[in-house]
Amino acid sequence: MKSIRITTPAKKETYDISFHENFEALASALKAQVGDRKLVLVTDENVHRKTEFLKQYFKDLAAELVVLKPGETEKNWSSIDTILKAGFENGLDRGSVFVAVGGGVVGDMTGFAASIFMRGVPFIQVPTTLLGMVDASIGGKTGIDCEYGKNLIGAIQQPEAVMVCNDFLETLPDLEIKNGIAEMVKHGVVSSEKHFKDLEALATKDWPVVREEILGLAPASMNIKKTIVEADEKEAGQRKFLNFGHTFGHAIELCSNFEIPHGRAVAIGCVMAANYAAERELCDWDLVDRLENIFNQFEVDLTCDIAEEDIWKAMGTDKKKFGSELTLILPKKIGKVDYFNVTL
Ligand SMILES: NC(=O)c1ccc[n+]([C@@H]2O[C@H](COP(=O)([O-])OP(=O)(O)OC[C@H]3O[C@@H](n4cnc5c(N)ncnc54)[C@H](O)[C@@H]3O)[C@@H](O)[C@H]2O)c1
Ligand SMILES: [Zn+2]
Repeated sequence: MKSIRITTPAKKETYDISFHENFEALASALKAQVGDRKLVLVTDENVHRKTEFLKQYFKDLAAELVVLKPGETEKNWSSIDTILKAGFENGLDRGSVFVAVGGGVVGDMTGFAASIFMRGVPFIQVPTTLLGMVDASIGGKTGIDCEYGKNLIGAIQQPEAVMVCNDFLETLPDLEIKNGIAEMVKHGVVSSEKHFKDLEALATKDWPVVREEILGLAPASMNIKKTIVEADEKEAGQRKFLNFGHTFGHAIELCSNFEIPHGRAVAIGCVMAANYAAERELCDWDLVDRLENIFNQFEVDLTCDIAEEDIWKAMGTDKKKFGSELTLILPKKIGKVDYFNVTL
């Protein structure tokens, strides 16, 4: 079993992203990781219904199960309440553990519930989407959305372990693979021209090949996130770079009432941010072309009929705004971004 080790210097926490060959191997590794602790396992209806993992191995895990409704609109207090109640009603205590088996939505919420349950208990991430594997399960950002904006309520708490199994991707719809690719492209723009070029090369291939081979590039993407999170767990500096495409993207998600999913909104947001930068001569137009091109080749839908004015208005609620100043992460070249303060 291969693994990637993450160490956050501030709190000296260490955890592994481990890779498991199949569901059977994942189930036995998860069982060993949990040990004799009580656990609540959180998932959503799609993962529960579509993937064989819970169907076949749930009994072995001796967990209490919480099955949430799927989707970003469920990322709210009511779901947190459901997770916490399952903890209390099943006698979990400070020595217990929560396990998220799902995409970024389930992962963010389970982590947040764990961070406030009896002032904080450990949690384990088992990401079931590509986006969850390469991005959301790593780095300890947890939380929920509220009427004031996305991810505005939350905590930073690192998971105890991240356990990855590619078998989950077999049931994942193409659109969800594309949402994950959007975050991988973002990682390339933020810090690795090589990763971006590898993705560009893959983008020229037919979709079935892309679907198959994208997994080969996932560890590189995870390593980019790992390096940034290790250097700046609390987002005092360079972790902000990972928000490239997200200030626009979160606003697009909000304005579309979450009909545009996170990954696709980030892709549109990356292109908007790149256009904004090129218009101000902060980067070449060639970068904008490459970015549009790679998303088009991967067939990530960049259409967005929301008025730009509405997107800017929604950006006013973004967490990255202090007073009337908004910090935008803009590209300088592929592999390098920087922050720029914009007055609204
Ligand atoms: N914490 C972080 O650092 C971080 C980073 C990036 C994104 N996020 C958050 O992650 C969320 C997006 O995550 P996502 O794209 O995984 O969305 P998601 O969790 O909504 O999953 C996408 C869809 O795929 C379904 N699904 C999940 N696994 C499946 C499987 N194996 N087979 C079939 N269907 C499956 C889900 O039910 C859902 O309908 C957003 O809320 C975003 O804010 C967090
Ligand atoms: Zn994201």
